[in-house]
Amino acid sequence: MIRFPSFGQSAAYAQFVAAPASDLALKPRGIDHVHAAGAPMSGLTAWQFLIEQGHNVPNPLQPEPHRPVPLKGKRVLINGAAGGVGHIAVQLAKWQGAYVIAVASGEQETFLRELGADEFIDYTQILPEDQIRDLDLVLDTMGGATTGRFLRTLKRGGALFPVLPGFADAAEAAERGVTVSMTQVRSSGPQLAEVGRLLDGGTVRIAIDSTFPLADARRAHERAARGHVRGKIVLTVE
Ligand SMILES: NC(=O)c1ccc[n+]([C@@H]2O[C@H](COP(=O)([O-])OP(=O)(O)OC[C@H]3O[C@@H](n4cnc5c(N)ncnc54)[C@H](OP(=O)(O)O)[C@@H]3O)[C@@H](O)[C@H]2O)c1
Repeated sequence: MIRFPSFGQSAAYAQFVAAPASDLALKPRGIDHVHAAGAPMSGLTAWQFLIEQGHNVPNPLQPEPHRPVPLKGKRVLINGAAGGVGHIAVQLAKWQGAYVIAVASGEQETFLRELGADEFIDYTQILPEDQIRDLDLVLDTMGGATTGRFLRTLKRGGALFPVLPGFADAAEAAERGVTVSMTQVRSSGPQLAEVGRLLDGGTVRIAIDSTFPLADARRAHERAARGHVRGKIVLTVE
């Protein structure tokens, strides 16, 4: 994930590319290239939402900077927990000492409990917004216009972080005393190095949903479009 988000609309995949050194970090020795390749986009997104924004560039999604909240001892719900961003967010929240409730489809339960989730909700059986109350934080990787349904799950003083824009319930958030905040991920070599240390030590692991040769990138997109992604889809090069 280099020169993101300024790389340009026509950017795709390539075997070789020029990048500023400040966007790069060394691959952790303890993991292979496929797992390392799965880390940057989702790892930096989870890091910048949950741990540290790490830059002062104006936020394109809201007037004020995004500010992560303390996680130690907090009740945190991750929606879309099995996906790229979600499965790393679960592990970062656990690393920080949070109690983590993971929301995903039923077949993801074992995977998410192995990653450390304390509770699991199968959204095909139970709507989390009907079941859960008194949370400190919701990270909603689905985000968008429906994210406001999580406001009622949060305690006064809590926070809702939608990963996709579209939140439209500002009046209800103000009434409930809930902060709603989002950000757009940016390339960061120094933050990648921090994520890399967690990967090297096994504190965080990248799950690989599937791999495809670069020449078969189309099939990778078809896999993504089928949904229920568990971890990351990675393109490999010779
Ligand atoms: N703000 C930013 O800078 C930024 C950065 C990165 C990504 N994003 C955006 O964040 C979103 C998530 O990215 P990602 O890479 O994590 O996607 P992903 O890997 O495709 O994961 C999405 C996950 O959501 C689950 N899911 C689908 N429907 C659900 C539902 N109704 N409730 C709960 N979970 C559901 C899917 O599996 P199951 O259905 O099996 O549970 C899947 O694991 C994308 O839209 C992406 O564009 C934004």
